[in-house]
Amino acid sequence: MTLTRRAFLTTLGAGLGGLAARGRGRPAPAAGRGPPPVRTIHLEARAVRWELAPGRTVRAFAYNGQVPGPELRVREGERLRVVFTNALDEPTTIHWHGVDVPNAMDGVPGVTQPPVPPGGRFVYEFVARPAGTRWYHTHVAEHRQLDLGLAAPLIIEPAAPEPVAWDREVTLVLDDWVTGHGRPVPPTADGTAGGRGEAGGMMRGRGMGAMMGPMLGGHGPAYDTMTINGKAYPATEPLRLRRGERVRLRFVNASNEHTHVVRLAGHRLLVTHTDGNPLEAPVEVDALPIAPSERYDVLVTADRPGAWFLFCTQPAHADAGERMLVLYEGAAGARPPDPEPGVAGLLPWHYGLGRGRDVVPSATGRVRAFDLTLGGGMPGSDRWTINRKAYPDTDPLVVERGDRVRVRFVNMSPEAHPMHLHGQSFRVLAVNGVRYVAPVVKDSVDVEPHMGAVTVEFTAHNPGRWFLHCHRPTHMEGGMITLVEVRG
Ligand code: C2O
Ligand code: CU
Repeated sequence: MTLTRRAFLTTLGAGLGGLAARGRGRPAPAAGRGPPPVRTIHLEARAVRWELAPGRTVRAFAYNGQVPGPELRVREGERLRVVFTNALDEPTTIHWHGVDVPNAMDGVPGVTQPPVPPGGRFVYEFVARPAGTRWYHTHVAEHRQLDLGLAAPLIIEPAAPEPVAWDREVTLVLDDWVTGHGRPVPPTADGTAGGRGEAGGMMRGRGMGAMMGPMLGGHGPAYDTMTINGKAYPATEPLRLRRGERVRLRFVNASNEHTHVVRLAGHRLLVTHTDGNPLEAPVEVDALPIAPSERYDVLVTADRPGAWFLFCTQPAHADAGERMLVLYEGAAGARPPDPEPGVAGLLPWHYGLGRGRDVVPSATGRVRAFDLTLGGGMPGSDRWTINRKAYPDTDPLVVERGDRVRVRFVNMSPEAHPMHLHGQSFRVLAVNGVRYVAPVVKDSVDVEPHMGAVTVEFTAHNPGRWFLHCHRPTHMEGGMITLVEVRG
């Protein structure tokens, strides 16, 4: 795409009948000459008792006493100063997932900063960019700290108005919990988000993963509760709709283990952003697979009055709490149809459906290519590898600032890996041998098991030492991490 951003906005705005004009995206404050304005926020991590649902209270870790933590909203280009206090009795850090922070603000203990000790304090400061649905979370012992709730949305509102219009927006953070109450749900380690270009992964997930997973897997914790914004149904807060309005939903999958496949019964979902980055045009789907750490923005048009459920179609997830009432005005008391598991006959989203807007900075250096084979998952082993090595023994990807870096992941293991790169976003060039003409831009990409392959490309524009890792904490702890070293 060679259209400039301005030209594009004008074009698409016209194409959509001038919707841009009525969009909620507010224009940036007058371009000042001085330093960008600073917004100071105080965050504290602390252990709390948290009620997921009546009768289901757990010990959780919270930012500012909330699970998920408070949603931070800033304007693109604004300087964010976060004064962070650790009131846990263990060390922690904050990672700004999907934000191009300076390396020292990236929150990776032992790589970009020492962990913040109990009672300690750390000031994170960075310019908020790029725009989009980002999130923040702990980067210490995630298998416990992230699992206990240390995650929250960070919404960076674009400086320029967006070419889509909506009346209202709601952020929905999805999470999985081990409470010891209720029946464990089947694992979703087959992944679903990458897509073999069809619902293949999902079908296998439903069959083999669902039935044999609990027998075969056995080593992971038993997740039994699924939440939306820290609550399990019936404690989830209903979404109230007025007929004719358009609502923007921002989904964040903060789960450690589970991929969710979201539906809103009676409605289609218009996907507009992948991991916060805009598509050229919205894509209409029936169901939205979201791997751990991924985000999607969708628009919903309220044109089917009544009562409905927004829910996850993964086996047992809706029953484990992952559903919320969607109530039109005047529909109080109406009974929504029960959630239907599965996506048979539906059109689910996959990466190849979207045409990404090219928001990645252009490369000025050489093309560098790396092949990373993802391995592990041998019975009885917790070892997860990149090119047969476990972090810290993995080989770093050393590149120069400005290089165009192509990374090809091939997953030789039996579980999906949502691979996440810190500090810069990438284009998803190809999945399972299918090349995309207008790649979507993301910072996490699900690589399917059993020889699933994904090629991504990024411009190494952010100097420093960046983590590239699987976002399933058990895999990460097992070694599936490498460093991307951007020199210069
Ligand atoms: Cu969202 Cu290294 O993490
Ligand atoms: Cu993994």
